[in-house]
Order: sequence, then structure tokens, then C-alpha cells
Amino acid sequence: MSVGRPVPHDSAELHVSGEALYCDDIPAPANTLHAAFGVSTIAHGRVRRLDLSRVLSAPGVVTLATPADIPGENNYGSVVHDDPIFAEGLVQYAGQPLFAVAATSYRAARKAASLAQVEYDELPAILDVRSALAAESYLMPSERIVRGKPHEMLAQAPHRQHGSVTMGGQDHFYLEGQIALALPQEGGGMLVHSSTQHPTEVQSIVAHALHVSAHAVSVQCRRMGGGFGGKESQAALIAAAAAVIARKTGRPTKLRLDRDADMIITGKRHDFAADFDVGFDDRGRILGLTVMLASRCGYSADLSAAVNGRALTHVDNAYFLEHVEVISHRCKTHTVSNTAFRGFGGPQAMVVIEHVIDDIARTLSLDPLDVRRANFYGIGERDTTYYGQKVEDNVIHDIADRLERSSRYRERRAEITTWNATQSVIKRGLALTPVKFGISFTATQFNQAGALVNVYTDGTVLLNHAGTEMGQGLHTKVAQVVASELGVPLSAIRISATDTSKVPNTSATAASSGSDLNGMAAQAAARTVRLRLVDYLCETHGVGPTDVKFADGNVTVGTRHMSFREVVATAYLARISLSSTGYYRTPKIFWDKVTMSGRPFFYFAYGAAVAEVAIDTLTGETQLLRVDILHDVGSSLNPAVDIGQVEGGFLQGVGWLTSEELYWNTRGQLRTHAPSTYKIPAASDWPAFANVALLERAPNREETIYRSKAVGEPPLMLAISVLHAIRDACAAAVPAGTEIDLPAPATPETVLRAITPLAPRVFA
Ligand code: MTE
Ligand code: MOS
Repeated sequence: MSVGRPVPHDSAELHVSGEALYCDDIPAPANTLHAAFGVSTIAHGRVRRLDLSRVLSAPGVVTLATPADIPGENNYGSVVHDDPIFAEGLVQYAGQPLFAVAATSYRAARKAASLAQVEYDELPAILDVRSALAAESYLMPSERIVRGKPHEMLAQAPHRQHGSVTMGGQDHFYLEGQIALALPQEGGGMLVHSSTQHPTEVQSIVAHALHVSAHAVSVQCRRMGGGFGGKESQAALIAAAAAVIARKTGRPTKLRLDRDADMIITGKRHDFAADFDVGFDDRGRILGLTVMLASRCGYSADLSAAVNGRALTHVDNAYFLEHVEVISHRCKTHTVSNTAFRGFGGPQAMVVIEHVIDDIARTLSLDPLDVRRANFYGIGERDTTYYGQKVEDNVIHDIADRLERSSRYRERRAEITTWNATQSVIKRGLALTPVKFGISFTATQFNQAGALVNVYTDGTVLLNHAGTEMGQGLHTKVAQVVASELGVPLSAIRISATDTSKVPNTSATAASSGSDLNGMAAQAAARTVRLRLVDYLCETHGVGPTDVKFADGNVTVGTRHMSFREVVATAYLARISLSSTGYYRTPKIFWDKVTMSGRPFFYFAYGAAVAEVAIDTLTGETQLLRVDILHDVGSSLNPAVDIGQVEGGFLQGVGWLTSEELYWNTRGQLRTHAPSTYKIPAASDWPAFANVALLERAPNREETIYRSKAVGEPPLMLAISVLHAIRDACAAAVPAGTEIDLPAPATPETVLRAITPLAPRVFA
């Protein structure tokens, strides 16, 4: 059976040979136009004058697109319609598109875009979370969950501590930037090739912008060169602008953002500021906790309600919080509209609770691992989250036990203590942090998927499903499921581009649920075809359904053996339909917005990591020396793909927490918009010693596809171990009891500041 085997990614060979077609590689018709955005240079203000005459007369320019050229709605916001495709009158961030220009070449369009003459009446801008909090500048109402009596427990607790946690955002830095190619069709139709995690939403937004019905717009995506959440909502901006020009000119139009434009124009991970107040006992067990979370949403709603909703439900991470209050503020700032990013607000909330636990441990002079264990959710007791969902599948004790042993945590802790006592320049640090992450979209309606399976008379299968491929191996996994269901080799299955005209009304491929949802939908589709074949064979051979077996490309009917190909060829002659759709919706989940409780997650995914780092106390540089990871993917659909997701997610998290620094100047202009100033992890940042393993014999207790678990996002949060190992090393560099003020990302500057708290802030 194909499921469970470590088969390579279905496009692995195409990726390395360069044959894989990304949107920009799709052969475009000869008369294709190339478009570029002209953007605002100020953060907040009214456009007094927009003179595009120089843009229009620049070499190669064919046309311009402004709000007047949009036949329908000037909007690409899906939840709240507050995202203009082109700003009209009011600009709300530096980098906001004002118009697009289309030319005969990509270079000509980009050059022309910079020639606009714009005059503004500037307005005061709110740029960061703390300023927004002070001004109570919120995009949407704050939300709060409370359980028990946190304030009373705080007052009574033997120990009490309060503090703040700050963490930065993160650019998606997908290798393929945002891009769309819009091709006008007859009768007002539009075909859009879009690098998007959400073809259906692109379809709907393009239709609204063009003022046509959904059936007139088809959106296709064979693959993305990475999405990471950045192409969940914001790909629609690029597609809509391209479609508007294609409609206006009747010519195919490609809009591709170069790296700088992509980083300046499109949203990122929300940066957060948090305040906490915690009461605890002598063992470090949390008795009462209040947390204020505030995030920078940027100028518009985008997916911020859902991102902050997930943050609101992930402050516990793997810990039982009996008496707790969490408040979430969604700050409106005059910066780019922040969006989904792997973990979707969960990582930010988990960074906060890990910080709290770490502080408790340092206050009590306990090993942070012991404090973590003291607070883990119990099994059969202390097991209900503060939003009412019971943690029924808790494997965190098992994971922590195994990892503690396999990583030699205690021995290495002793070795590091000795090292730090004798070494004055290089200090080392160690941390084990857990991950518990809820799987499902928190908006219940998104937890559905469809698929289409076409079996041809030569026995080959064309598979289509609602999910998109962004490198995570979703297509490979779903193909494995279909191959297993039909008992054919994986080579018999071909996956075509995700296409709104084949599978309609789809959800974004997000929230890590791609394989959970589409695996089930595709299995249902393949099963329908198989059961038709079984019926047919039973009838023609006079056997019962249990006498028919599909395996290895063969079908056994009683004592007779036939090839799958023979069976479908004869079934066709007998007029049996060889094509079927399939559908799935996640059971059991619900959420009550009034009481802020329910079962938002079908199940939880778990993992833990032990990281060891060294810091240079003279320069603040850090190095990840070793990592040990044990991650829970249930019964893996594909261990090779899953290990890849664990390793990639972890390292992407390390980038977020240690080196990727987004810096806006006081005018709200992003100054880190290329790899020259924005440092993502490189292959050389992978530690010399890494032991990455999947938790074995741990099938999902819920009925997911082959009892697997989602793997896309959870591993990112394993990287919190690295931040805490750095914090641990910093603690060794200062007198005991010194407060470690280390924000994320823990760049060399912040590390140096944290270990020299009294030094003048020369780096500020
Ligand atoms: N892996 C790769 N290689 N590229 C990506 O863009 N996106 C991540 C994760 N892993 C991503 C990735 C994010 S944000 C999500 S939500 C999931 O993949 C989405 O895919 P899945 O639901 O199929 O896991
Ligand atoms: Mo992933 S942030 O849910 O696209």
C-alpha cells in the first residue's frame, strides 16, 4: 500500500531539474502585458494630486489601471471589505498600491511605475503596537476568555510576578513571489493562473472586481513556490489587479512582484506585545494568570480576527491553566495589513506562556523543564482547556520523557553548568519546550473539502482536489491515499492543477488541514468508483463484495485475477461511470462566540524540541549547536514528507525568533525588504547535530485519514526551544537573579543588550 511509505514529493525531480512549472513559467501568449504597482510612499494621508502623465508616456507603457478602471468592487478583502485594490483618496501604509501600469515588458512596467507624481496631505500615523494600545486604536473589538478566579488566585499566590513579552513579525519569504497571469476568455470570461493558497477566494474577488458572476472566472494553481500563509488572502490583490488590466485591454496580463515590492506591499506575521501577571506555588505550578495580547494588524482586517482568535486559544500551549484571563487586542496601525503565517497567531501566544514559565523557573531557581512538567495538562485530570475543550489525546508526557532521555538532557545540563562556570566569553544554554497545537480552522465552515477522481479506460487516474500544493507535499499524500484506495501503484495517479472549475467552493489550504480534509474527500471519491466496480464484478462473476480485492494494480475476484486496467476497460463497456466527486467535512467541532467556548479543534498535534546554543558575550552572536526533536504526526501518511515539514518548520521558526528582523523607520517605511537586510536561515544555519524523529506507534485517536495528523504548522513552534536556550545562555552571562530582557528576534544586538542591561543603548 502506498500510504505510510516515504515516497518522494511528486514534483521532486521536476523541482531539481527546473522543469516544474510555476506561474511565471507558464507559456504566456505573445501579446501578454506585464504590470507593476505604483505605491504610496507615506504611511497615512490623503492624496491631493495623482499625476500619472509621466507614467503613461514612459517607453513601452500600454495602459494604466486606477479605481476608475475597475468595473466592479475596488476591494480584495474577503472578511471585511476594507482592502482597496488601489487606494482611493486615503492611503494607510507606505507601500499601498495606488495604481498599476501595464507595459510590453516587466522592466518597462517597473520603471514606469516609479514616475508617478503624487502629492499628499499627511496625517498622523500610528506605527507600532504600544502606540496603538496607548491610543486605543483597534481594528475590531477586543476579545476575552476567562476561567475561574484569576485575580483572586493572583492575590493569594505564594509567588507572583509580572512582565512583558515582545516579539517581531516575519516575512513569508516564499522563494516564488506573489504572481498572477490573467487571460481574457470569450463572453466576458477570465482564466487566472494564480500563485494562491485559496483559488476560490481569488475567483470570487476577481469576479466582484470585474462585476461578473463566479461562473465566468476560473482560477488555477498547479503549485506555489511556498505560501506559508502569505498567499492565503493576499494573492487576491495581485490576481484582481492583473484581471482588471486584462479586462480593460483584452490582453493577457501578468503581474509579478519582485522581492522588494513583495516585502513592502504584502502582509506578514503579526508582531505581538504582551503583558502578564502570574501567581505560582513553590514547585512553579501556575495558580493564576492574566495575559494581555496585542498584535499589529496593520491598516485593514484581512485575517486578523482569526489570527488573533487562534492566539487567544493557544496561550496554554501544553499547560493546564485553571484560573486564567486572556484579553486580545487587535491593533490598527498605518502599516501593511498583516496576515496568516504558519501557526496563525498560535506561535505568538505560545512564546508568551513559555516566557512566563521560564521566568517562574528562574525566580524559583528550578530547571525550567521541571516547571514545564509541573504545569503540563494531566491525563484524566487537569485536562480541560480554558475554552472548554477536553484534551483527550495528550501525548506530551510521553514525548517529553523520551526526548529527555534520548537527548541526555540532564547530563548535558550538568555539562553546560560546568562549562559556563569555567568559560567567560562563550556561554551555552539548553532548553526543552513542548508544542500542543489545535488542528482545524477555527471558523467551522472552512472545515470541508471536495475532490474529483477520473479513472480512464487505460487504468490511469487523474486526481483533482480542493487543496493547493506549496511544497508541503499535499498532492503526494492525497495521491497516496487514492492509490491505496484503488489498489494501484502511485505511478497510475496524476495530479492536475487545483482548479475552481473542477472542484468548486473550496477553502484555503491552510490551518495545516490540507491532508486531513482533502485526503478524506479524495478517498471518498475513489471509494465511490471502487464500489461501483465491486458491484459490477459481483454481478458479472456471481461473488460477494468481500471476494473482490484491489491491490498492486490487480483485482482479485474470488479465484480470478485481473489487472485493474482490464477491469476498468470492461466496466466502461458495461457503462459503469468511472468518475466521481468526493466530499468531506470535519465532525465534532463547534464554537460558541458568545461564551467563547466549544470544541474548535478536532484534535491536537504535539511535539517537543531540545535546543542547545552558544552565545558570544562579546558580540552577541548566537549559534545553534544541536537540536533533538520528537514530533507527533499520528500514523504518518508519508514519513519522508513529514520529516521535511518538521525540519523546515523548525528552521523557519528559528529564523523568526533569532534573525529575521523587520524594521520600519519613523515614517513607517519598511527598511528591510530584501535578503541584504533581512536574514532568513540558510542551509549553514542547520545545526551540526540534529536528531529529528516522529513519535512512533501513535495513531490519531480521532478518525482522520489513516489516523494521521496534520504536520504543516506545528513544527514551527519547536523553535521556541532555541529562543529559550539563548535566554538560558544569557542567564549564565549575568549575575543570578538578573532579569533577562530578551525580545524576539534574539539578534546579536538584543542578546548583547540583554546581558549588559546597564550599558548605554548604543544600538538603539
Ligand atoms: N511547507 C512548504 N514547503 N511550503 C509552504 O508554503 N506552508 C505551511 C505548511 N508547510 C508551507 C509548508 C503552512 S502555513 C500551512 S497552513 C500548511 O503547510 C498548509 O498545507 P497542509 O495543510 O497541506 O499541511
Ligand atoms: Mo497556514 S498560516 O494556515 O497558511
